[in-house]
This record gives sequence, C-alpha cells and structure tokens, in this order.
Amino acid sequence: MRRLLFVLLCLFAFTGMAQEGSVAYPSEKECVPMAQEISLIPQPAKICVNEGKFLFRGKVAICYPEIKDREIKAVADNFVDEFKKATGIKLKKTTPKKKKVLGKAVTVYDKKADAHIVMHVDNSMGGEAYKLSVAPKRIDIAAAKPAGFFYAFQTLKQLMPRNVMAGVYTDSFTMELGLHDCLPTEYPVPCVEIEDEPRFGWRGFMLDEGRHFYGKEEIKKILDVMAAYKMNRFHWHLTEDQGWRIEIKKYPKLTEVGAWRNSKVLGWGEVKPDGQLYGGYYTRKDVKEIVDYAKQRFIEIVPEVDIPGHSQAAVASYPEFLACDPEKEHEVWLWQGVSPDVINVANPKAVQFAKDVIDELTEMFPFGYIHLGGDECPTQKWERNSDCQALLKEIGSENYRDLQIHFYKQLKEHIAQKPAEKQRKLIFWNEVLHGNTAPLGDDITIMAWIGADNAAVDAAKRGMNTILSPQIPYYINRRQSKLETEPRSQGYGDETVERVYSYKPMNNVDASLQPKYMGVQANFWTEWVEEPEVVEYLMLPRLAAVAEAGWSKPERRDYKDFLKRLQGEAVYYRLKGVSYGKHVFEK
Ligand code: ACM
Repeated sequence: MRRLLFVLLCLFAFTGMAQEGSVAYPSEKECVPMAQEISLIPQPAKICVNEGKFLFRGKVAICYPEIKDREIKAVADNFVDEFKKATGIKLKKTTPKKKKVLGKAVTVYDKKADAHIVMHVDNSMGGEAYKLSVAPKRIDIAAAKPAGFFYAFQTLKQLMPRNVMAGVYTDSFTMELGLHDCLPTEYPVPCVEIEDEPRFGWRGFMLDEGRHFYGKEEIKKILDVMAAYKMNRFHWHLTEDQGWRIEIKKYPKLTEVGAWRNSKVLGWGEVKPDGQLYGGYYTRKDVKEIVDYAKQRFIEIVPEVDIPGHSQAAVASYPEFLACDPEKEHEVWLWQGVSPDVINVANPKAVQFAKDVIDELTEMFPFGYIHLGGDECPTQKWERNSDCQALLKEIGSENYRDLQIHFYKQLKEHIAQKPAEKQRKLIFWNEVLHGNTAPLGDDITIMAWIGADNAAVDAAKRGMNTILSPQIPYYINRRQSKLETEPRSQGYGDETVERVYSYKPMNNVDASLQPKYMGVQANFWTEWVEEPEVVEYLMLPRLAAVAEAGWSKPERRDYKDFLKRLQGEAVYYRLKGVSYGKHVFEK
C-alpha cells in the first residue's frame, strides 16, 4: 500500500513538473540530496555499516530510561524539538516500564509505537563518548554523560539529510539515489553501529572580535557549526588595540569609548582609515544569551582580555590610570599591527582594573578558563616610565619582560583567593615563556601559536598544559586558495584545506609529555575581515578539518576520504546560510 502511495506521489511530482515545463526538480529551492552514503565529520572511532535503514514512519517513540540527570533529559528534549522543527515529525516521549516476566526483570517499551529511539545510561563510558546503534525498527544510544548523548544525537543528525543538521524544514529532496522503498520525508537513517569518543578534550575555535565586531546572531551561527563538528571550546577574543567588546559594569568607558573608533577598515600600507564611526559591544544580557546558547551545545566559552599588550582601546578609555603617558592623547587604534600603547603595569590602579575585569568575567562566564593574552607586548613605554623603572628595581630585575610576569602573578594570586566555584584557570599565548627571567608557575596553560610544536614541547617539559594552535596552518583567516575570488586576507593562499588537514597534532611527542597536550584550536584574526560572510567563507570548510584533527585518532584520518565526506557539506552550509570556501568542492 505504502509502495503504491509512493509511486503515486512520484507520478504526481513528475507530472506536475511536466505540466509546469520546469527543468528544475524539485524546485529552484535548495535540494537536499537523500544521500545514504555515510559521510560523518569528524570520523568516528569505529563504524560498522549494516544492511537496511531506520525510517521515521508511523509513530516513533523516544524512550528515556529512568534518567535522574535532568541535563541528559534536556539533551533529548532539545533533539526532539530541533528534529520537529527541521522535519515536521513529532517524536513521542515515553519512559520504558520495568516488568517481571517469568520471574525475570524486563524493560518494556511503548508497544503502540512503530519504531523506537532508546537511550541508555552507561556509566562505564567516558564523558564525551557515545554508542549509536541503528537497526530497522530501533535506534539505541548509550552514553554516561549529557555531552556523550549530545554527540550521539549530532551523529544521528549527520546520518540524515542535511536539512536536519541545518535545522531548516524543506520539502525539496533530490531523488537521484533511487529511494524505492520509502519516502524522503521518512528520513531514512542507514543501519550502523558506531562507537565513538574524541582524541582530545580541547577542540577549539577562536574568533577575534576586537578588530571587527559581528554581533550575537553571527556568534550563534558559528556555535552551531562548531557543534555540528563536535567542537567544544569557543575562545572569544574580546579586546584589542582596535576595540573593547564586552560591557564591564565597573568601567563603563570601556564600551562608551573603547568600543568605537573612527574607521571601519583598519589602516595598513596603502589602505587608509576611512573616517566612519564604527564599533559595537556585547552587553551583559547578550553575553548571558550566548553563554546559554553555547552551554546547550556543550561548548565552553573562554573569554580573552588581552592585557597588558594589545590594550590601546582600554588605555584610550581610561588613560588617567592605564596609560604610561597619561598627559598625551590616546585613541582607539585605527591601524593594524602591534601598538606600543600598553597598560602601565606599575600603576596600582591598573592592577586593580585587571582584577576587577577578571571578577566580572568570572561572573559572566561560568566555565573553567580565562585567557589573558600575553602575546606581542612591547616594553618601550615601560622603559621610559619612572614608575615602571622603579618597579623593575623593586622586583630585583633588569629585564622589562619581567614586569609583564609580575603583573600576571598578582592576577593569579587574586584568583587563588577566590572560593572554589569562582576559581578559573589561566591561559596565555606562548610568548609568556620567552624573554623573561621570572617564570609564571606551571599551573597555567600555554596556547602555542608561534613555533607551536616546539613551544608546546617546551611548555609540557616545564609541567604546563598546552593547546596546539599553530599559526601555519591553523590561522584559518589566511587565504585558503590562490583563486582570484578569494577575499582579501593574509597569506598567499597556501593554507588550503589539505594543508590544514595534514597538520599532525602531537606528532612524535614523547609519551611522558603527551598528557599535557589538551588538544587543538583554529584561530581567526580579523584585521582584514570587515564582514561576517567573509569570516564564514574563510573559516569553512577548514574548521571541519581542524575538528577532525581534534576528534579522530590519527589512524582514522585520511585526506582523500575526508575530501569525499566533505562534498555533501556544501548543502549543509547553504541550508544553514553560511558562506564557505569553494576550492575543494566539485560542484
Ligand atoms: C597571536 O597570533 N598574536 C597570538
């Protein structure tokens, strides 16, 4: 009967097409290929493909076990809501019943349902691990923690037509795969057995909004794409010489003054500042909205305030206590590069400022880490400032780099005095390992970008944790191809998808140091990138390549295979409404 119905429907569709004389089936709208080829990104640890498919046909129940964990229940509820939004299919939420049959305890699932999705809590599994088993009438999901269930649902979505992951409803499906036994609207899922867990606990993406401000809807889109690829850290670079982007109640001028400048483009060489008033910032309310959005996707946000270097916007807001030369004019910077206008670390009010900012960040971001920057901090203004000269003597050093470390030590001590729930670990760029004589202690995390592989080994040998974000090739704001259509950005187009994919994190690292390697991160600097579509274009699909390096074991990674799996992602990007680099897509 169903088969007959399907044939009739197809006839109707094709007759309709003929009558309209249209050449575009199913419509001019985006078609969602009913691709039953399996193209998961990142590649799971183990996958076994079986015959057949699960169909969302008739009544499908989702069965929660006696889940005490409200967070796990919330993960399933979100999946049910998102699935309904994308497909129009309402899953029936049920709780399985325990019964005794012939003296044996058995679990009974909703008998009225035609098919079931069954969730199991298995406390023997790792925090982000999951198992997903798809059979014709039943999908079983097992995990220990909410994150594991979330990733299982992400994989399940990736096994379906891409409008599901994109979260958009469509009735336009291409039929080229010859679905002869079901309707496209039954969302067939191929039968598979998957056991999966990540290689690294840190799978990050950094966005610089100091140079350019994109706003919360763009951030949410990026968080969605990160979650699709099972990335779990959003490093939010919120302050720069060229802009301060987060409301700090105690210092309102940071956003009244520091969030605005007199040019949209940043000057560099022939490119001159354009004179237009430009800027923006996130209010506390915006931050709360984004934090909640990220949490729902198991992404921790790592806020970065880059101090005492890269701080001209802050200095322009409060020159009276942040500037080394308060008598001079200070403005939010209109140029690219590294400004010498750094915070006067010898002024006690500047130290208090930094502590207050950390306190407010701690309130706003209920996560584990705060990043204090530490890169590219010129010392020439300190060398000319009498308070800095005196402080250097006081700490018994002749090396101005030590002033930066002294500043951070006071901030570390400030955090150490907080109650347990307000403790935050600190991350720094790897320059804090260089040029100074007084070490900052081994309880910090080093984000290795310049000479990253060696810097990470150095950090690990000193007992610090480390994250790999090598400038080449993980700065994915750089041009990703030599195509003429590539947007203006840094680099010469050598950091292609293949180049990014081919980087091998933690390669040939001594086994004794490996526990210090937390994972990988792609970084996106925005000096040249005024528009959010250009962020997306440069970020994608390279973000997917970094995500796979963070998640999949080396023996599961293969560029040719990745490239094949990547092809269908163009449909996901288009449905999601994100721009993406085209050089690796066949059509
Ligand atoms: C950096 O690229 N300055 C961290």
